[in-house]
Amino acid sequence: LLLLLGALVVGYLLGSIPFGVIFTRMAGLGDIRNVGSGNIGATNVLRTGRKGLAAATLVGDALKGTAAVLLARYWNPDLMTIAALGAFIGHLFPVWLGFKGGKGVATFIGILIGLKPIAALAFVAIWLVVAFASRYSSLSALIASAATPVVLWLLDEPRMAGIAILLVALLWWKHSENIKRLLAGTEGKIGQKG
Ligand code: G3P
Repeated sequence: LLLLLGALVVGYLLGSIPFGVIFTRMAGLGDIRNVGSGNIGATNVLRTGRKGLAAATLVGDALKGTAAVLLARYWNPDLMTIAALGAFIGHLFPVWLGFKGGKGVATFIGILIGLKPIAALAFVAIWLVVAFASRYSSLSALIASAATPVVLWLLDEPRMAGIAILLVALLWWKHSENIKRLLAGTEGKIGQKG
């Protein structure tokens, strides 16, 4: 039990590092939470017009999820999914930002890279197809994430599929404003300011 709790806490601490806030502040752009959707993720950092910062945010928010999973694997492979859950919760609800964190897309990809790289590739492929067709970052993430538990199940990873269902439920819940905007036709497209 102590090990489980340890993996959860270490995952949480890694996941709670808000790279979008850190990088935009370092670049002298002020608080990213006052820009666009107010989200701390790469999609919103891109709305500042700074592609490099958006890419760095994507990579940072992803790799902290990968790091949590790989650290747990090194420790004890049974802890991988619990560390993944910790990192995801850390990104969504970071204590440093008053528990108001991101929407989980980059961190979800990073976790998949750690757990099952083929599933991460499938996610990115689906995301790209939907993004090219629709230009909506949120819609791409919603569809790619929903497909992930199925992908993991097909890859014969029922335990990972189980944890993925939980993460996807959280990701969708965090996207509820985006879902409303998509349904209303008012969601911002990729790179579009606002
Ligand atoms: O996928 C992140 C993106 O889904 C939503 O970001 O800033 O448009 O709310 P944002």
